[in-house]
Amino acid sequence: MDSVKSSVKGRKAAGTRLAVLIALQALGLGACSLQEPAQPRIDEEIAKQEKIYRSRGADVPGGYVTNRGLSDYAEVLSTGFCDALGRLGSSDRWLDIGAGEGQAILDYYAPGDDAAPAEKCGGSGPKARAVAISIEDRRRDKWKQQTARLGDDRIQYLSGKRLSQYSLEELEKFQIITDVYGGFTYSDNLSRFLEKVLSLLESDGVFYTLVQSVHLEDGKDNPNTWYLTELVYAAGRDVKVCSWLKKTTCAKVGCESKSDWHTPTELINIKKVCSDVSVPRMKLLQNEAGNPPGRRFQLEP
Ligand SMILES: C[S@@+](CC[C@H](N)C(=O)[O-])C[C@H]1O[C@@H](n2cnc3c(N)ncnc32)[C@H](O)[C@@H]1O
Repeated sequence: MDSVKSSVKGRKAAGTRLAVLIALQALGLGACSLQEPAQPRIDEEIAKQEKIYRSRGADVPGGYVTNRGLSDYAEVLSTGFCDALGRLGSSDRWLDIGAGEGQAILDYYAPGDDAAPAEKCGGSGPKARAVAISIEDRRRDKWKQQTARLGDDRIQYLSGKRLSQYSLEELEKFQIITDVYGGFTYSDNLSRFLEKVLSLLESDGVFYTLVQSVHLEDGKDNPNTWYLTELVYAAGRDVKVCSWLKKTTCAKVGCESKSDWHTPTELINIKKVCSDVSVPRMKLLQNEAGNPPGRRFQLEP
């Protein structure tokens, strides 16, 4: 909770800095001289963010949750995620980006619950191969035990790099990609991140994710929200995350706005419908380390 408060304080300060910047620009002061100090500040925030990834034990900030299970994924991802997972065959593949401890994959592979077999997200039929990616290795013993039990390459855990640092040859393609408060929430280069995700999807494959504290597609977000992910046009006008996503070619984007959640949250599913994918570029204007971080991007013309 403290981290949320300090993040809000930080956002206020950042908001004030941004307002000063805009006012100075309006007065006609050179854009270069205003933008020069921004890079060291961005680097400083990146360093703080790294510290959160590296944190262990009691040093892990309260809001940095790394052990959400499959039932949590079912609650926060778009309707249809569990059914889609259940339709995968044993030679299909599921990638979980920002998997933390990999608990969702462990639950998927956990022996069926006889009492309520039909209720398990992903069903009780054949299981797809699953790959977990996390910047830092958060595996616990239960991951190692499950890998030993399954005895082959059914589940895999990759760490030490960000998604953007893997080649297509290393990861190959997937039918389903999920991201629950992972790279889509934490990346400071959202367009490159999304382009990478879509390059890893098979045609007709779907990416399921969400983003909190954003301007919602249905416009019902509380205007007093402290927005954590903000997108703006060059002129400064807000762009909704779903409006930006819907400009992507070869992608069919679905958005479910949740204005009654703790913070306004957009549940997103993106189906890749052809291979010529192009994601409209954005540049990072501002970032603030946190769990999750605050980010402000500008759409490039
Ligand atoms: C808050 S944890 C969420 C873990 C898990 N999805 C859950 O809900 O419990 C954030 C995770 O995202 C990962 N992450 C953040 N940015 C990433 C990126 N660009 N590529 C891969 N993993 C990333 C972190 O390393 C971490 O595993």
